[in-house]
Amino acid sequence: MLAEDEANEFSLRPKYLKEYIGQKAVKEHVEIYIEAAKRRGEPLDHALFYGPPGLGKTTLASIIANEMGGTLHITSGPAISHKGELAAILTNIAPGDVLFIDEIHRLNATVEEVLYPAMEDYALDIIIGKGPSAHSIDLPHFTLIGATTRMGLLTAPLRDRFGIKEQLQPYSPGDLLEIIVRSAGILDIPIDREGAIEIASRSRGTPRIVNRLLRRVRDYAQVRGEGKIDLATARAGLDMLSIDELGLDTVDRRILDTMIVKFGGRAVGLDTIAAATGDDASTIEDVYEPYLLQLGFIARTPRGRIPMPAAYLHMGYDLPKDATDPRQERMNF
Ligand code: ADE
Repeated sequence: MLAEDEANEFSLRPKYLKEYIGQKAVKEHVEIYIEAAKRRGEPLDHALFYGPPGLGKTTLASIIANEMGGTLHITSGPAISHKGELAAILTNIAPGDVLFIDEIHRLNATVEEVLYPAMEDYALDIIIGKGPSAHSIDLPHFTLIGATTRMGLLTAPLRDRFGIKEQLQPYSPGDLLEIIVRSAGILDIPIDREGAIEIASRSRGTPRIVNRLLRRVRDYAQVRGEGKIDLATARAGLDMLSIDELGLDTVDRRILDTMIVKFGGRAVGLDTIAAATGDDASTIEDVYEPYLLQLGFIARTPRGRIPMPAAYLHMGYDLPKDATDPRQERMNF
């Protein structure tokens, strides 16, 4: 994310649970756990949020810190490269604070081992001086919130130490509409219902994307339009960004094009696709692939990824000879 967008994203983020739109089940669970922990005067149990990027894992962590009255400390798996760094973070937190570790599946094994006693017993086992003189330091009672886009990559011991595990789902069109109307109010840009629906429907079920597109369409409306967003302005702004009607951008389309044309629709490995498109393999896997899978545009097979008939149609290619037309499938129910 660009720094400017990141700062704006913060201002658009809800601060309390009652302002948080969507994720009904997660919201209800978290509401109960927070209320119960507050009544007992305890910190919230450690929580793990997982699901595709942009669905509000960081937002939830900051809401939890606010609701619990603690300070939020934000770091990430790749940012903590050795034990000492984690020890420094842990010794700087206060009782009731929330430590948020994004991409927690990317913590290295030695750092992860420091986390276990910290989570379980609020203890920091460190070696002071030379020799095997291990001392344990008491840590304040805090809440660890882990976020991951790749639940399957978490080690079992780490996964098991989270008392709360919640999976975030893509947002419904109605929820996205509500979010964009709220955000437009905060950003002070007039938007009508058709304009809002147009942007929401091209946002892949993701608040981060809906908010980013809203800001860019706002720019467009203020410079090329009349300072308000209606259907025509939304369409023109989104076309300028090369976001198509399903919300695919140039990278998505380059991936599909590569799979269909360059590799002739054959099963192909992620690294091969990445090398051919010039994109990063883990970005493709974490950011682009989930939505393409969800649309039924690609499939994962043991031999690699294959483009599906729906992708050929969307990209304007003829279907391969042996393919079933998905439009037919839809009609034969
Ligand atoms: N902005 C980003 N995510 C949001 C959400 N879930 N509810 C309200 N505003 C948001």
